[in-house]
Amino acid sequence: MSKHTVVPLNEADPIEARVANLLAKMTLAEKVGQMRQLNASEGYPPDYLAPFIQAGAVGSVLNQADVDIINELQRIAIEDSRLGIPLLVGRDVIHGFKTIFPIPLGQAATWNPELVGEGARIAAREAAAAGINWTFAPMIDVSRDPRWGRIAESFGEDVFLTAVLAVAMVEGLQGDDLTSPDSIAACAKHFAGYGAVESGRDYATTNIPENELRNVYLPPFRAAVRAGVATLMTSFSDIDGVPGTANAFLLRQILRDEWGFAGLVVSDWDSIRQLHIHGLTENDWDSAFEAVTAGVDMEMAGDIYGNHLAALVESGRIAVGMIDAAVANVLRTKFQLGLFEDPYVDPAVQPAAGSEHAVGMAKTMATQSVVLLKNDNAALPFAADGLRSLAVIGPLADAPYEQLGTWIFDGDVGLSVTPLAAIRELVGDTVDVRYLRAMENSRSRETAAFDEAVEVARSCDATILFLGEESILSGEAHSRANIDLPGDQAKLVQRIRKVGKPVVAVILAGRPLTLANILDHVDALLFGWHPGAMAGPAIADLLFGHESPSGKLPVSLPRVVGQVPIYYSQKNSGKPASADNIVHIDDIDAFAPQTSVGMSSFHLDAGYTPLFEFGYGLSYGRFEYANIRTSAHHICIGDTVTISAELTNAGEVAADEIAQLYVRDLVGSVTRPVKQLAGFQRLRVEPGQTVTVEFRLHTDELAFHGRDQRLATEPGEFHAWIGGSSATELRTEFRIVASS
Ligand code: BGC
Repeated sequence: MSKHTVVPLNEADPIEARVANLLAKMTLAEKVGQMRQLNASEGYPPDYLAPFIQAGAVGSVLNQADVDIINELQRIAIEDSRLGIPLLVGRDVIHGFKTIFPIPLGQAATWNPELVGEGARIAAREAAAAGINWTFAPMIDVSRDPRWGRIAESFGEDVFLTAVLAVAMVEGLQGDDLTSPDSIAACAKHFAGYGAVESGRDYATTNIPENELRNVYLPPFRAAVRAGVATLMTSFSDIDGVPGTANAFLLRQILRDEWGFAGLVVSDWDSIRQLHIHGLTENDWDSAFEAVTAGVDMEMAGDIYGNHLAALVESGRIAVGMIDAAVANVLRTKFQLGLFEDPYVDPAVQPAAGSEHAVGMAKTMATQSVVLLKNDNAALPFAADGLRSLAVIGPLADAPYEQLGTWIFDGDVGLSVTPLAAIRELVGDTVDVRYLRAMENSRSRETAAFDEAVEVARSCDATILFLGEESILSGEAHSRANIDLPGDQAKLVQRIRKVGKPVVAVILAGRPLTLANILDHVDALLFGWHPGAMAGPAIADLLFGHESPSGKLPVSLPRVVGQVPIYYSQKNSGKPASADNIVHIDDIDAFAPQTSVGMSSFHLDAGYTPLFEFGYGLSYGRFEYANIRTSAHHICIGDTVTISAELTNAGEVAADEIAQLYVRDLVGSVTRPVKQLAGFQRLRVEPGQTVTVEFRLHTDELAFHGRDQRLATEPGEFHAWIGGSSATELRTEFRIVASS
């Protein structure tokens, strides 16, 4: 699968000779310089940076995206510094550069690695043309807490889906050849476990036992390293008492020794200095020591390395060999990118921002990312000829900036087409579209316009509500404790419901929201994440049936926030809940203590299931699965088994379906999840057509870290399911026996 653009350290590689050669010429100060990344954003112009670059006191800059400025910085590095070492130029290109694609969580809802890879290719091309040669993406923290604002940047709750998309994004950003002018170095972040911050509060502590770390949080990073990711970033969070930036267990034992990673490790922003704030070190000097000994090669946006590394060597506290190894990782990355051959970008050669191809891909990705959660009585798609008037209401119907989502530093908001604009364009004169924003923004508690909204809804054949969260409500340091629709949006839905005409809600948000308080008040519900520039055309096509919804949830949607974390691949516990051993008490205040409740693992007031499970998503087609089969009931370690099922589209329109394979290892040396995604395929199925979906599973793909923490496939009984979501009950079994 991977193209291995960066191979593990190989002494025979000509790059290694060049690295060694250059290292031999460097002074200690120049070496330390390569380990520093400076902020080059607006407040830090070339005049300010020039003396550092000339002195060889900086190896990388970040947060500059002006091609002329970047060329000038490179010129200073090449022409005015003693050794002429080019700069790594880093930037957060998270879901597009100029052309903004859906947020990564929305990209994950496409379950389409080819599309995610192509989106990353386009982003890399646009960013590279600005002189950027390194992006801090993908973020591949498994994220099971919707309160965490950065879940928007993640691929969701699942290990397998995250790993597949991590590889797709790394390959898309880096291309087949890192030296190519449209490739940039990727950075898998944040190593590791950041998604598990307590109560979803950003930067908080994580508590992850080693076995959970190895089986859940690390596999996407392992996959990214195998795919040749050039760099990794440490995590801000504390894990088992040691913050990611000082965590030698992660950065040395696992990353370097076990996985053989030979790329560059960068700290997160100022996170070396923060080691003191965490309470791990007494002062900056010790922080520099902890980070460098743990294996952090470069400090992002801080001065701890610059101020202390040389003195640490001179005092004999660390050996210069440790510095050399870190600098070699930096230089290797620069050679791999071909920067010594040509660090410049021709400003005249710029891909048109929002080229037809880029915009087309952004639309396809947005279309495939939207998840249809509810569609009673086939409320959708609207029949354009059966509809004379349509009310479009809500704070996110016509908000070109908000639909882009978090982390869009360089995004071109001028490319945004809003749902309102696209609906008008699509229906032309055939439908009278009446728009009312009704709320200043999603957080508003001002209900003065609700009467008018009701009037608009009453005057139309149907209403579409565009609700959710503005982009500022998710992303870094934007966690929420309450994940209901903000403000008085739910009240607006309830008022519109009373009109008695069809109501469709489209939710645009950076995280899963708790939607139980509107679910019964709408006929159809679409969850669109933050879909990016082409939100409008994508959603309009779905509403009017030009395309069928085909997104599937990459993360469970809880009923209430108190269920969090709730994810499908949980452990069984000793008293698992099922429909017949729980009670569900809607009104806990009325709970009578004598009520007989099952002794199982559930919440009295929320049961044990989410509102919508991982992998769920409806379609305008009607998909039915049957006849699951296994190619063998017994296989040996080292063999492959094929699991297949028949998938029929019993509906009336052609549509894409995402067929999913889940497995369960019934008994292990450590307990195993009740279900784990092990494969998926996006398939186009015509009405009336039946296709056979086949998944081949090698026993290596069933390996996990056991009680001794080693990776192995353990013989025993397995269940396998195929279906359209993680709740599928279509099951077969097979047994793995130890090879003779
Ligand atoms: C974030 C990183 C990001 C970096 C540079 C930090 O605050 O945690 O994910 O890449 O800033 O912008």
